[in-house]
Amino acid sequence: MADLDNAYALNGPDDCRRLYAQWAASYDTGFAADMEYRLPAHVAMAFLAHGGGDADAVLDVGAGTGLLAASLREQGFEGAIDGVDLSAEMLARAGEKRLYRALYRADITAPLPFSGPYSGIVSSGTFTHGHVGPEAIDRLESVAAPGALFALSINAGVYAAQGFDAALARRPGVTLVEVPIYGAAAAGHDPAHAADRGLIALWRHRA
Ligand SMILES: C[S@@+](CC[C@H](N)C(=O)[O-])C[C@H]1O[C@@H](n2cnc3c(N)ncnc32)[C@H](O)[C@@H]1O
Repeated sequence: MADLDNAYALNGPDDCRRLYAQWAASYDTGFAADMEYRLPAHVAMAFLAHGGGDADAVLDVGAGTGLLAASLREQGFEGAIDGVDLSAEMLARAGEKRLYRALYRADITAPLPFSGPYSGIVSSGTFTHGHVGPEAIDRLESVAAPGALFALSINAGVYAAQGFDAALARRPGVTLVEVPIYGAAAAGHDPAHAADRGLIALWRHRA
């Protein structure tokens, strides 16, 4: 059974594929339910509060089992949602929910096999320990329409350590919103990570 210590210790895409292949079946009913995983709902709320509801098509980055798309729909988003993820098993779960227009299996640190352009780019839980660093942001901007709204969560523990602070300082007008990643029940399941915080970085893409 996968847990956050395994997930945070990943090193590279092959590690990631292996871990999420095992984790996909229990991710929603185990991890997300037990930990009261709130991050997708916070990202959806921040995206919509900053005007994302006008986007005709958004890309969900590291879509996993589709929890962020579900939150966007629950909060009233009506545009198209495409997802990209490294893990075929996670994408299979996302596909079952019938929330996405298209799902792409791809590594977001490499050239992307689709072009968009997207008027929104959203992500929850993908920019974290052992996962994806700030270098992927350039890749994502290559499929963003001029003026596209970004809303990317970044684990607070990697924000400065992995250089997200410097990468975002190069983009004008970034707003940061700090949120709890988990709910109160998390303390009973994984006290070491229960209080983890996320920073949601929001900005408009200037092509
Ligand atoms: C913690 S999960 C988050 C999933 C979903 N967004 C959520 O909030 O539940 C991280 C996801 O990022 C994906 N991922 C990690 N590295 C990636 C990469 N280089 N390219 C694409 N997806 C990646 C993993 O396969 C996994 O589904």
